[in-house]
Amino acid sequence: MQPIALSRPMNRRLQKLTAAATLPTIAGCTGAQSTLDPAGREAAQIAELFWWMVGGAIIIWLVMVVLAVYAIWVDPERHDPRRTARFIIGGGVVFPTVVLTTLLVFGLQLLPQLVAPAPEGSLQIEVNGLQWWWRVRYPGDETNEAAELANEIRLPVGEPVQFLLQSEDVIHAFWIPSLGGKIDMIPGRTTRLTLTPTRTGTFRGACAEYCGEAHAHMNFDVIVMERPEFDAWLEHQRQPVSKQDEPLLQKGRELFLSRGCGACHTVRGTNATGRTGPDLTHVGGRTSIAASVLPNEINDFHTWLTDTDDVKPGVLMPSFHMLPEDERGALAAWLEGLQ
Ligand code: CUA
Repeated sequence: MQPIALSRPMNRRLQKLTAAATLPTIAGCTGAQSTLDPAGREAAQIAELFWWMVGGAIIIWLVMVVLAVYAIWVDPERHDPRRTARFIIGGGVVFPTVVLTTLLVFGLQLLPQLVAPAPEGSLQIEVNGLQWWWRVRYPGDETNEAAELANEIRLPVGEPVQFLLQSEDVIHAFWIPSLGGKIDMIPGRTTRLTLTPTRTGTFRGACAEYCGEAHAHMNFDVIVMERPEFDAWLEHQRQPVSKQDEPLLQKGRELFLSRGCGACHTVRGTNATGRTGPDLTHVGGRTSIAASVLPNEINDFHTWLTDTDDVKPGVLMPSFHMLPEDERGALAAWLEGLQ
């Protein structure tokens, strides 16, 4: 049998094709939303299980290729039927049973660690899934007001955090690939997830259960910070908004209250107390708007108000393109100013 000889241009084309196919795969292994670049204790355990499985699969595949080549090359007359039968039972029954049982035991012993509740006194965060955004709440206590925000979660590094997850409409799934596994959010039930971030940084979370038209636009940002920085941030989130003196911002505030925005949105420190949409108290200080669809600049608020359905097809918030341009400008400036 002769190896297939490729002409030089064909060889080069094959190299380019291989590079084109491999590069996106390798690039996908890192970044803010990668299970293979863990930034949390739980994600690291899942990644370890993955790599053992990949390593095992590659070794078994290589052995199978060698055997297949051997079977093609060897003279069929030279096969001893009894030896062959033993080989088939060993390789086809005993070997897979041993390998799969080992993998099962390895995977199962990880489970109790992955579903264990966080120790008493750990930080608790309530997250509710809604079509198509995330309500995030840091409960209050005797001395502190609760803080509510949307589509953004901040965590202190190196501490286990207890998530209490619910849904207000259909089934969603809460997933921060860099920090750990995913878990369903089921209407009428509270599911729990413990995550322990091990390094600071900005990561991305996503809804991992198809939940309707804008499912693919139901994401959130996760920022892992040092403890003192996190405490300062949370303390600020617990505060209501303060009054701004600038005329444009005052106009934005008045419009927000007079145009009915407060029927759906809460801005603590104003008369807006709606619960249908996200709490916008410090929305200008968030990393993104519209569940991680747009960055957070004045222009983005303007685009959002003008064309909600273009930016996020299916979104329940109506578009406010009918408002005069200067009113949308003032609203965008005020919202961006809510730091
Ligand atoms: Cu929520 Cu998919």
